[in-house]
Amino acid sequence: MAIVTGAGRGLGRSHALALAQHGAQVVVNDLGGEPDGTGSDPTVARLVVDEIRAAGGEAVASAHDVSDSASAREIVRLAVDTFGGLDVLVNNAGILRDRTLAGMTDEDWDTVVRVHLRGTFACSRAAAVFWRDWAKKTGAPVDGRIICTTSPNGLYGSFGQTNYIAAKGAIASFTLGAAKEMIRYGVTVNTVAPAATTRLTEGLMPEELVEKFAPAFVSPIVVWLASLQSAAITGRTFDVRGNRIAVVESWRIGSEILHDEPWDPAALGDVVPDLVAKAAPTPNDSGYVDPEQN
Ligand SMILES: NC(=O)c1ccc[n+]([C@@H]2O[C@H](COP(=O)([O-])OP(=O)(O)OC[C@H]3O[C@@H](n4cnc5c(N)ncnc54)[C@H](O)[C@@H]3O)[C@@H](O)[C@H]2O)c1
Repeated sequence: MAIVTGAGRGLGRSHALALAQHGAQVVVNDLGGEPDGTGSDPTVARLVVDEIRAAGGEAVASAHDVSDSASAREIVRLAVDTFGGLDVLVNNAGILRDRTLAGMTDEDWDTVVRVHLRGTFACSRAAAVFWRDWAKKTGAPVDGRIICTTSPNGLYGSFGQTNYIAAKGAIASFTLGAAKEMIRYGVTVNTVAPAATTRLTEGLMPEELVEKFAPAFVSPIVVWLASLQSAAITGRTFDVRGNRIAVVESWRIGSEILHDEPWDPAALGDVVPDLVAKAAPTPNDSGYVDPEQN
């Protein structure tokens, strides 16, 4: 019993089809909007439901907006009412409104942060409430799974999308905290950072890479993370591009220095450059510290 948000197109559709193929009953959620988050179309989710049913699977459509808390609760309720429970939540819905920082409007900032970050929070909270209550009622852990979606851009930075980077980076941090909380109920929380050819990346990938980066390459690890086999893995982020799966190493302390007294700011001129020189380099846009790799 799984929910996949933003499952009408692109990566979410691929995850929903793959989960259904592996026996999951799926709530296919999709608002059906434009890439910038405007508009809506309930047929987008229904078409994927039709595809799953035509292949012999079980699915139900939801056209709810993930960033609205009442709608997020409705999505979870739909899973419980239709299939009798919930095992897996895949937070995938997303939009883009790329602008440089100087040209970013409040609306472009808020809209992107709302869909990605609030949407991830609202759906995860609705699922967490269900799992917490279920665990209390039954007295047993629930084996739940939350799989979020960040982006290499949100982890390593990119040009012209501080709204998206901030929201996606926050989703990776959200994963760390949610994993620590939810483990007591038997729920793991992990994140994928994909790259795939979808309408959001149309025209950005060289023609020869389009097939190698099909969304279907990202879905196997989502299916695995959704399974009982992944119970020991939580709080992790996986960078998944084409055939490659990589573990993203988290924030951690690098080089450090101690001092008995509060630092004199003027003295730090000798200290900070040395600390930075001893620390691991900042990764390039592809997440590698070796500038030759990408
Ligand atoms: N394609 C990539 O290379 C790439 C890279 C990194 C991260 N991502 C992330 O993967 C996720 C899926 O992106 P995609 O490339 O498949 O894009 P996509 O546009 O093909 O699919 C996203 C879907 O989310 C739906 N959606 C948007 N806002 C919604 C809302 N408020 N409620 C419910 N549904 C909503 C859209 O209608 C759309 O069908 C996004 O979170 C995106 O940021 C994609």
